[in-house]
Amino acid sequence: MTASLPPKPPAPPPSSPAAARPVAPLPPRPFAPAPPIAPLPPLAARPPVIAPLPPPSPAAAAAVPALVSPADFELVRKLVRERSGIVIEPRQEYLVETRLKTVARRRNLEKLGQLFDQLRLGSDPKLATEVVEALTTNETSFFRDFEPFEALKGCVLPELLRARASKRTLRIWSAASSSGQEAYSLLMMMRDGFPQLAVWKLELLGTDLSAEMVRRAKAATYTSFEVRRGMADAQTSKWLEPVGDDFRVKEELRKLVDFREMNLVAPFPPMATYDLVLLRNVLIYFDVETKRQILKKIRSVLAPDGVLMIGASESLLGVDESWKTVRVGRATTYKP
Ligand SMILES: C[S@@+](CC[C@H](N)C(=O)[O-])C[C@H]1O[C@@H](n2cnc3c(N)ncnc32)[C@H](O)[C@@H]1O
Repeated sequence: MTASLPPKPPAPPPSSPAAARPVAPLPPRPFAPAPPIAPLPPLAARPPVIAPLPPPSPAAAAAVPALVSPADFELVRKLVRERSGIVIEPRQEYLVETRLKTVARRRNLEKLGQLFDQLRLGSDPKLATEVVEALTTNETSFFRDFEPFEALKGCVLPELLRARASKRTLRIWSAASSSGQEAYSLLMMMRDGFPQLAVWKLELLGTDLSAEMVRRAKAATYTSFEVRRGMADAQTSKWLEPVGDDFRVKEELRKLVDFREMNLVAPFPPMATYDLVLLRNVLIYFDVETKRQILKKIRSVLAPDGVLMIGASESLLGVDESWKTVRVGRATTYKP
């Protein structure tokens, strides 16, 4: 047998006297002024919130690597900006410190400060060049981003080949070519996908500010990590040959590309007219005005129906919108 609960009394309607019962007013309280706040003791007399660290012992100070002072940082920022257009952002002291430590070590300098002193003296022009080069970012890979190469293979190159069929000449410039993987990827793709080019005059130029990168590009020798990162096994065995633990691009591709030092922010030397310019992943290092100047110079060496490609994550929006944007699959190309 289940016990039944007594029925609940009906809830009072919202307007019933129970719901709107007036609250009795509080008895008036006499106003008592707050006691005066005791003034704070003067700053010097207050105990510190965080006790300052004791000064480092001479031994510890010697063990701490040299730091970049604000004056050193400005010196390097100015030099790099003037020579390469590269903007080192505020608070990138770590970049200056880590990159320039390598230069200091190479020069047998015990302390980074000695490098800044020498730089200030200005007696060694090679040092300034080394510093600028050390602050370039040379990240690259074979078939980087993949989609631009699909666009080149599926649309850009077939169109250019049709347009140049009577002259059978094609000129391509890999501007900011770093260690050369971009140019060699393009060549492999062209030799595999467009066998008719074997009887064309093909000129491929690769340029970079960094002498070290140009040297690497000419040497065309890559670690197994660099190779495996971007290339399929079939391509590797077709176009590269093992050299010790590394791999070298075969002579038949190497002889098709000319690598040279060239600074994009300096006036361009006399140049041919190019059908395709790859200016990928370099504009990001410059300010807007420098980007505009470079694009203007690129336009002057690009054929009227030529094609410009910039990095997959870069855009000309707000930089130079006079270029015609042409979407090709998932890649963007630009026409003058
Ligand atoms: C991040 S890499 C890009 C390499 C390649 N284009 C790619 O997309 O994989 C940028 C390259 O631009 C070069 N560079 C930077 N400033 C330059 C300048 N003012 N003139 C020419 N090359 C420059 C650097 O030395 C570096 O090798």
